[in-house]
Amino acid sequence: LRVFVVRLGHRHIRDQRTTTHLFLTARAFGADGIIYFGQRDKELEVRIKEFTNVWGGPFEVKYGNGVIEFFREWQENGGEIVHLTMYGLLIQNVIEEIRNSNVDKLIVVGGSKVPSFVYNFADWNVAVTSQPHSEISALSVFLHELFEGQELLKTYRNAKLDIVPQTKGKKVVNKHA
Ligand SMILES: C[S@@+](CC[C@H](N)C(=O)[O-])C[C@H]1O[C@@H](n2cnc3c(N)ncnc32)[C@H](O)[C@@H]1O
Repeated sequence: LRVFVVRLGHRHIRDQRTTTHLFLTARAFGADGIIYFGQRDKELEVRIKEFTNVWGGPFEVKYGNGVIEFFREWQENGGEIVHLTMYGLLIQNVIEEIRNSNVDKLIVVGGSKVPSFVYNFADWNVAVTSQPHSEISALSVFLHELFEGQELLKTYRNAKLDIVPQTKGKKVVNKHA
């Protein structure tokens, strides 16, 4: 089962920090990669590749052109689309069904306004509470529920640095030293 995150409507400069945090969250919580739409941002792509080089992977970052085509093709290939939105069905009522449908998934999050076709394409519109918050928090809670906490045990390949958890202070092992 492969899980990719889709970030809609990225705006160069304005969203750089949020989108970076979204990518890092996707990576840390077990997604296989991210496809972003909106404005292309090569600096952002380079930054995520650098993180993956240092902290390990695999984690793919791709820029997508044409969301509708992309969604259509994904579903034609048997994949499903989960759209995270506060207007959707509550996660606690649908997560089991989503987990049990054992096919590749796109987890779609918005930035500013999300066009209505996204709600229609989605196999599930899922709310992490019916309160407004953020795509980063919605994504992390969703992935944690989807993977039932198993993502916390994930290990990363080809990392240059590894953190050794400490009661106090910092211990980092340089694996190529
Ligand atoms: C800051 S919100 C903006 C939403 C925007 N106002 C709209 O029209 O949908 C950005 C993204 O965070 C996610 N999000 C925010 N609150 C959420 C919630 N309660 N449940 C699920 N996703 C949420 C959604 O993916 C949304 O597109």
